[in-house]
Amino acid sequence: MPAETPVISITRDGSIAIVTIDNPPVNALGLSLRQALWQTAETLDADPGVAAVVLVCAGRTFIAGADVGEFGAPPVPPHLPDVVARIEAARAPWFAAIHGSALGGGFEVAMGCRFRVAVASASVGLPEVTLGIVPGASGTVRTPRLAGVPAAVQLVTTGRPVKAAEALSLGLIDAIIQGELREGAIAFVRAALTKPLPPAISARPVAAQTTTFWAEQEAAIARRVKGETAPLRALAAIRKATEAPFAEAMAHERETFLELRASDQAAALRHVFFAERAAPRPAHLKSAAPLPLRNAAVIGGGTMGAGIVAALRDAGLPVTLIERDDAALDRGLTNVRAIFDGGVKRGKLTEAQAADRMAGVTTTCDYAALADVDLVIEAVFEEIGVKRAVFAELGRVCRPDTVLATNTSYLDPRCIAEGVAMPGRFIGLHFFSPAHVMKLLEIVPIPETAPETLATGFALGRALGKIPVQAGICEGFIGNRILKRYRAAAESLVRQGIAIEAVDAAMRGYGFAMGPFEAQDLGGLDIAHLQREAARAAGQAVPETLGDILVRAGRKGQKTGGGWYDYPPGERRPQPSATTGTLLSGAIRAGAALTPEAIAKRLVDEMAAEGAALLAEGIARNAADIDLVEIHGYGFPRWRGGPMFATRRKGAAKP
Ligand code: 3HC
Ligand code: NAI
Repeated sequence: MPAETPVISITRDGSIAIVTIDNPPVNALGLSLRQALWQTAETLDADPGVAAVVLVCAGRTFIAGADVGEFGAPPVPPHLPDVVARIEAARAPWFAAIHGSALGGGFEVAMGCRFRVAVASASVGLPEVTLGIVPGASGTVRTPRLAGVPAAVQLVTTGRPVKAAEALSLGLIDAIIQGELREGAIAFVRAALTKPLPPAISARPVAAQTTTFWAEQEAAIARRVKGETAPLRALAAIRKATEAPFAEAMAHERETFLELRASDQAAALRHVFFAERAAPRPAHLKSAAPLPLRNAAVIGGGTMGAGIVAALRDAGLPVTLIERDDAALDRGLTNVRAIFDGGVKRGKLTEAQAADRMAGVTTTCDYAALADVDLVIEAVFEEIGVKRAVFAELGRVCRPDTVLATNTSYLDPRCIAEGVAMPGRFIGLHFFSPAHVMKLLEIVPIPETAPETLATGFALGRALGKIPVQAGICEGFIGNRILKRYRAAAESLVRQGIAIEAVDAAMRGYGFAMGPFEAQDLGGLDIAHLQREAARAAGQAVPETLGDILVRAGRKGQKTGGGWYDYPPGERRPQPSATTGTLLSGAIRAGAALTPEAIAKRLVDEMAAEGAALLAEGIARNAADIDLVEIHGYGFPRWRGGPMFATRRKGAAKP
């Protein structure tokens, strides 16, 4: 950081010093800020006129944590735990005034202060486990002293931030400031100084817990996190804080932090952290301005259309839904309503919010209603003729600058766009099911797509809170093409004699929620089978798959009571199937044996090999994009970093 851009400035309001941190974009605690904080504490301690210090931040947020970008290199002093201790030991008490987010090291700095106040919109939290580490500057040791052990366990082991109101009720902050933060904080300080100060957090007691408490917590966390190591290590650090003196617990936390910081899991999660932040604003679109998005239309209210309508409404856009007839419109609207009702049932939406979401949906069969929409997303049947007819209508009624998008999974967007006037506004926007939940959005330009249209696709992704990834045109784009290779590789293992359930168990062990075969049973084997049949009918040489044998025998998955596995009535858990064994016996060789690790390595290597092919063909722009596609669209374990990262780093199945 050059000397002419100080990250900290000090002003005065009588005997109160106001320390303002200004270290954009998020006031992360890089070396220069740690040094500046230390120096500031020294300067203010030496000034007898200072009775108290308010710590406030400029810009969009309070300190968002340690500088994650520094984690790849050895730590450089002053170390953050020492900075926090220095603030806590200051002659005049410090008060943290929080807006935006006080996260990780940011909240740890706030815990070095004697009091914490925040605006109502602020959040506080210790998200370190989401980066594969534990808090490294007293989060596991001061938090239980501040708010009790259960609150500390919740905060530290989930990594989920809490809003100011909940933070207040948990005792993490002392007051919510209404109105202007700086003035409110100064008034709070003046009132606090009239009373005896509470002890520094490090000097507060912490309640011991029973062995049963720890065992229960450990079991619950282990169930939730599968192979992720940080949450259990964080729990152990909190336990240490309740059983050892402050300094000893701090040393233990630091040791754990430094060990995990150097781990494969932390490297993987950092890779994903930066990839996710880079994806919504790709460098090659810096100079392309997105078009305004004030409203949108969706054609087709089936599975995908309804989910897309819900996603658009969640982002506040008014939506027109078009269907082929009134009955289909009714079904479409029912599909949309079911999504919002589900949100109410799960406590994610209030009744009023759900009603508001529905009120913003207009339904019609008349394309004339689309004369003034900014964006249309087509989600009708996967049939080229149907789609082309829709775009012909859209070309007739929409403004020339309306962005026209298709949600096709497998059709060639260039063929869909054929005949569309001004094809510069045409683009593929490939959502994933359920579209209002899944974070991935593949953005597929055709050669004619204008940069502004592409930029609008990314702007839409940002508005919907999605992870947008650009994909070139090929069958299946990035995600479904890798899925095809993954499934083929899994089938190949079965042909070699590995049990279906052994393959699924290995992939679950690797960190997927489901293995490839049980996932196919859930989604249905018939769609991929029909695609292969269509290709065969068109004269392509598509070899017979094991899935083809099952579908021909009527086994399409859970919906037919059986696919790779059996599903007795009322049972959704897969049961190994003798029928499948018999059906496939002619295609399977006996005798191969592989460890779960070797199975996972084989399959992840296959995904990465397909990813490498996608890069070589220019379908994917970079390896990190492929990792994001797999993590956000296909359940690849985040803490493995994605197939490209995992294979590049060490070999796919290394724990
Ligand atoms: N370190 C380095 N860079 C960071 C960062 C961090 N902790 N947090 C955010 N950034 C960067 C992003 O990479 C992005 O950079 P770019 O503009 O070059 O792409 C920029 O800041 C803006 O980030 P967002 O797009 O995420 O900004 P938002 O306004 O959407 O969100 C936020 C703000 C909620 C603070 C969000 O950035 C966030 O959650 N940050 C991570 C917080 C975190 O994980 N903190 C814990 C760090 S570990 C730690 O503190 C260890 C300690 O215990 C010792
Ligand atoms: P669906 O069959 O559930 O819904 C299609 C809807 O389009 C129906 O409601 C139908 O009435 C309507 N429709 C058909 N012709 C129409 C026309 N001419 N005008 C207006 N509406 C019309 O299909 P689904 O699953 O929603 O798929 C839609 C598109 O999304 C397809 O292209 C599919 O490949 C793609 N897709 C599907 C995914 C999935 O998991 N189902 C995932 C990603 C993309």
